[in-house]
Amino acid sequence: MTVKQAVSKAAVFLGIIGLALNAYIYTYPSLNPENCSWYRPTPEFQDPIKAQLIAIPWVGDLINTYYYKQFENYSNGFEEIKLLAVGDPQINGNWPTTPYMKRLDNYGNDYYLGHIYQVMKNRLHPTHVSVMGDLFSSQWIGDSEFYNRTRRYLTRLYPQPEDHTKAVFEVLDKHQDLDWQGYIDQIKGVSMDEAFDYHFEDTYEWTNSSVKNFTGEPLFINITGNHDVGYSGDATWQHMTRYHRLFGKDNFYIEYNKGTEYAYRIVVLNTLFLEGPALQPEFVEYTHHFLQKLKAREFEGSTILLTHIPFYKKEGLCVDGPKHDFYNEETSKREPYKLGKLRSQNHISYEMTQEVLDIIFGSTDKPGIILTGHDHEGCYNVYDKDLQSGVWEASPVKTHDSSKANNYIQEVTVRAVMGDYDGNIGLMTGNFDKEAGQWDFHYSACPFIVQHVWWATKAVSIIELFLISFLVVA
Ligand SMILES: *[C@@H]1O[C@H](CO)[C@@H](O)[C@H](O)[C@H]1NC(C)=O
Ligand SMILES: *[C@@H]1O[C@H](CO)[C@@H](O)[C@H](O)[C@H]1NC(C)=O
Ligand SMILES: *[C@@H]1O[C@H](CO)[C@@H](O)[C@H](O)[C@H]1NC(C)=O
Ligand SMILES: *[C@@H]1O[C@H](CO)[C@@H](O)[C@H](O)[C@H]1NC(C)=O
Ligand SMILES: *[C@@H]1O[C@H](CO)[C@@H](O)[C@H](O)[C@H]1NC(C)=O
Ligand SMILES: *[C@@H]1O[C@H](CO)[C@@H](O)[C@H](O)[C@H]1NC(C)=O
Repeated sequence: MTVKQAVSKAAVFLGIIGLALNAYIYTYPSLNPENCSWYRPTPEFQDPIKAQLIAIPWVGDLINTYYYKQFENYSNGFEEIKLLAVGDPQINGNWPTTPYMKRLDNYGNDYYLGHIYQVMKNRLHPTHVSVMGDLFSSQWIGDSEFYNRTRRYLTRLYPQPEDHTKAVFEVLDKHQDLDWQGYIDQIKGVSMDEAFDYHFEDTYEWTNSSVKNFTGEPLFINITGNHDVGYSGDATWQHMTRYHRLFGKDNFYIEYNKGTEYAYRIVVLNTLFLEGPALQPEFVEYTHHFLQKLKAREFEGSTILLTHIPFYKKEGLCVDGPKHDFYNEETSKREPYKLGKLRSQNHISYEMTQEVLDIIFGSTDKPGIILTGHDHEGCYNVYDKDLQSGVWEASPVKTHDSSKANNYIQEVTVRAVMGDYDGNIGLMTGNFDKEAGQWDFHYSACPFIVQHVWWATKAVSIIELFLISFLVVA
């Protein structure tokens, strides 16, 4: 056997493996359509032949998705909410001391996360996308590194239409330290009512308020995580200035279809600044100002609450139990001014949980849902408000106890998208139930499974290219 024959055999062999691997990474949701599709209350096809066709494993789902366009057609802005939830991507940075292999890993990881998002977005045509906080791996980075990670975030992980991100890229290109003193003056120079506008209504595109329906491009929602702005004991004006400039408001709400039976709202709440003791106590004040504004709205409709830190629940219901950690002598050695301040928290405290759930979900008996990040493992609970005691309590059951108040609220802690947690993306579907006159919310998690398959696909594809170029040249 000549070298050329051997290479040619290897090329055929690797070619077949490469095809199979590529088929997997681009169509993996079709292997698990139940978890990787929007929830549908009724079967799509009455026709028995079509129903049988789309029931064929893998191929059936591909036909249904790309030929029958199951997710493009069903969408009606008034009857379906389709939100993709991305849990804690936590992208790392490189430092001069970062080893070569770790740099390669960081580089590949960006594209791996971006690949998962692209596949899911192309398949599912979401109306909304929310990243559940902890976009980056550390709050202890300078502005320059924060810009560089934002650039990766917007080019490799979650690309968005150019006109949506123009203002952000201008800041990134200038690459100057932000004027956080100017931001303080701007906020503190006026009353809180003037400084903060939380209100959005029927928003389908951030940059064009004339757009009054879903356009096919999802509305992208950013949420603060402790690794982006810090816990309340760490967070500084510098953190908040750059977050605001690049990712927008940390507290806001969007009301949809107000005054109709289809009314619902999305509330984004910065749970990091609900409690103290805080380094900048005014941040906690601002968050509570937002809550008071929400309370005053007395919104009639369902609420989807998006936030980073999960609400209080007893030990054992999720991997992370309740825990608050405060700076002590030891942990504040290098920064003594932090002594006694809130250093980290797993949940929102019991009292604050009661208060916030009452404000956000207490004014109506419509169902609601909370999506959070933070606990990378993921978790599912239902909050019921006991009619007698008035106490909200979490339980891991899926059924609602009707002896309790009507407004049972689901809480999903979205499993992290990171490779070590199987590359999951969360699918939250809101379906309008015409008979009951209310929104129903369903959640599932779609896993990529093994991240090494993605790496193997890229490696095999590159080797295959080399073999083919050798065969062409030789
Ligand atoms: C979905 O829409 C496409 C394009 O508009 C159309 O060709 C197809 O027949 C539709 N499928 C269903 C199930 O309505
Ligand atoms: C919004 O778009 C959907 C799907 O394209 C369509 O069915 C619906 O009628 C539109 N709503 C309005 C108010 O235009
Ligand atoms: C960010 O990227 C710019 C341009 O590539 C580079 O000059 C700068 O050193 C980077 N910042 C950090 C902290 O690595
Ligand atoms: C904003 O959206 C409206 C309605 O879709 C459209 O007519 C208009 O051209 C858009 N404006 C810009 C600046 O894109
Ligand atoms: C979220 O961040 C992206 C990227 O910076 C931006 O395009 C988008 O408009 C932001 N969302 C809000 C509500 O500011
Ligand atoms: C499907 O989604 C549910 C809800 O998040 C989750 O509990 C379950 O583990 C997922 N199944 C698979 C196979 O990923």
